[in-house]
Amino acid sequence: MEENKRIPVHVSIIMDGNGRWARERGLERVAGHFEGVESVRAVTEASVEAGVRYLSLFAFSEENWGRPQAEVEALMHLMFDTMASELETFLRNGIRFLVLGNRSRFSGPLLERIEKMEAATASNDRLTLVLFFSYSGKWDILSAAKRLAREYARHPEDIEGVTAEDFDSLLVTAGIPDPDLIIRTSGEKRLSNYLLWQGAYSEFHFTDTLWPDFRRESFFEALDEYSKRDRRYGKVK
Ligand code: IPE
Ligand code: IPE
Ligand code: MG
Repeated sequence: MEENKRIPVHVSIIMDGNGRWARERGLERVAGHFEGVESVRAVTEASVEAGVRYLSLFAFSEENWGRPQAEVEALMHLMFDTMASELETFLRNGIRFLVLGNRSRFSGPLLERIEKMEAATASNDRLTLVLFFSYSGKWDILSAAKRLAREYARHPEDIEGVTAEDFDSLLVTAGIPDPDLIIRTSGEKRLSNYLLWQGAYSEFHFTDTLWPDFRRESFFEALDEYSKRDRRYGKVK
């Protein structure tokens, strides 16, 4: 990395292409998910090094529950096992760990382990690592809208005063800055119901590299491209 580059505060990644990575090698899809964990490690380390403050990863969508049961179970086990093995790394590197998504669908033991990890890393502040798990943008927005409706049910006349910032605070990402950069691997160019509200002014980086092959160098390439973007937010210079 060159010096004095504009570093995004929040980088978010749609980690895609694990299945294709495995298929190319004649392996089961799950092998791609396993290898993808190595990319998570590499990108987390690179984020700390670059001074990125928030790294968020789309690991499992609400729609992914509809995959074959064996794959869903394998992903749940992978999540369960990986979290515990990473705790020491998180503590050593000052990483705060958060899981955001629809928790009502998690098993008891998984939920317990997530809560333990979050509590153990709560006071770390070098990098916040967010795992979007059982997440979808529409689910997030709809949940926030329902909360808002409940809060204002008794005084509906006040609803006109609700601002976008008020709405931010009802989303699961409350307190987390919107992503400056959203990366999607594997050549797909879509959001797949990811951060629909929060990504309103995100820059996008699409790469054909499959997630298990996306490591340190690919990450720095994306940061480099980001640093050359002109973010106008609808204004003129
Ligand atoms: C991304 O890889 C991981 C998850 C969505 C859980 P995929 O499993 O979607 O891999 P492809 O897109 O089928 O190659
Ligand atoms: C998006 O990938 C979800 C995650 C990376 C967790 P998918 O592979 O599920 O998305 P589609 O089906 O290609 O849109
Ligand atoms: Mg995919």
